[in-house]
Amino acid sequence: MPATRVVVNIPGEVPYDIRIGGAILDGLGEHLRTISALAAAPQLLIISDSNVAPLYLARAKASCAQAGYRVSDIVVEAGEESKSVTVAGELWEAMAALGLTRDCAVVALGGGVVGDLSGFVGSTYMRGLALVQVPTTLLSMVDSSVGGKTGVNLEAGKNLVGTFAQPRYVCASTDTLATLSDREWACGCAEIAKSAAIDSDQFFFWLLEHSDQLRSRDTATVTEAIARCVTFKANVVAQDKTESAGVRECLNYGHTLGHAIETLAGYGTFSHGAAVAEGMRFAARLGQRLLGTSAELVSTQDELLDALDLPVLPWRAPAAEMLAAMKRDKKARAGAVRFVLPRDVGQWEAVAVDDGVLLEALEAWASDPSVGR
Ligand SMILES: NC(=O)c1ccc[n+]([C@@H]2O[C@H](COP(=O)([O-])OP(=O)(O)OC[C@H]3O[C@@H](n4cnc5c(N)ncnc54)[C@H](O)[C@@H]3O)[C@@H](O)[C@H]2O)c1
Repeated sequence: MPATRVVVNIPGEVPYDIRIGGAILDGLGEHLRTISALAAAPQLLIISDSNVAPLYLARAKASCAQAGYRVSDIVVEAGEESKSVTVAGELWEAMAALGLTRDCAVVALGGGVVGDLSGFVGSTYMRGLALVQVPTTLLSMVDSSVGGKTGVNLEAGKNLVGTFAQPRYVCASTDTLATLSDREWACGCAEIAKSAAIDSDQFFFWLLEHSDQLRSRDTATVTEAIARCVTFKANVVAQDKTESAGVRECLNYGHTLGHAIETLAGYGTFSHGAAVAEGMRFAARLGQRLLGTSAELVSTQDELLDALDLPVLPWRAPAAEMLAAMKRDKKARAGAVRFVLPRDVGQWEAVAVDDGVLLEALEAWASDPSVGR
């Protein structure tokens, strides 16, 4: 099957391709030679993590070497802890020691952690090298590898330091997903469900119809889901490259409650996807209170999330603690907590929710009778 191609065309940026296909990792080097900013790069640095490198680094290196590139690699510890200023500093020093110059390129081989970290060091070293994203998790294929946000975490919070830097190419080699755990798979599914609900009826009901195939990792369905997600995200980013026009905010659907759950339950207790899915369920119900969102949307979305193995979260915290956690979130502006709420499938609104209204909704959520049955 030929690779599926989606072009990302952001005003003021060089357009770039996302290719999605079976074993396209083996054609990585050859493809880089066709991209003008990368064709003559004297050296490529592949950054990967300790889980992904043993699985896919040799293939990536072989493909680039075969295309005549000089290739170096650095492997960081797998996990969110590597998205730190300390690791970024080590990478900058290593890049200098390798003699990387401005015409070299950085290739991120891994999930969103490697993508964000490599994008950050690549876009800042010598004021910016060309970047290539080779996402290997479902979440990074459908979301984080596209749109140009890079970053590292601080003690004070996630993603507090970063850049906007678009990649020159995104290579989603879907064969790499074969080794992904079910937990990480569900994380990607949550972002797909989020994109579908915000995007359109066509995407949402297609996903509902194909949820069994997506859960069972059917190749054609996975490829189509990735293509639909990146097309959606590319359109959003094209309208709001730097998250200043209010459009990109829609990508936070499910994340306001989701982040509070991750904070209060402790990072890693539940997967990010499970927390976001719970956040989507909550936001749809909040939409019922505030925007007249239909009961049908709420139940259909529940059905979709159940079908994608993202069941109701068996965890609750007191409403006041949830509200306090939301207020501490960096995305909360001064005053009321903001939620992306669905008015209908494909129609959303960002709403600053009054504390009293939010507390009531959180109390209803905290005493949900379906939890713990
Ligand atoms: N830049 C953006 O726009 C954006 C958007 C969403 C999320 N993010 C960031 O992405 C990160 C989460 O990304 P993620 O969910 O991909 O996490 P991750 O990169 O930590 O990957 C999850 C786990 O899967 C392993 N892994 C990766 N590929 C694998 C494969 N093919 N087979 C087996 N194991 C594999 C990793 O080593 C890791 O242990 C967060 O830091 C988040 O802030 C960024």
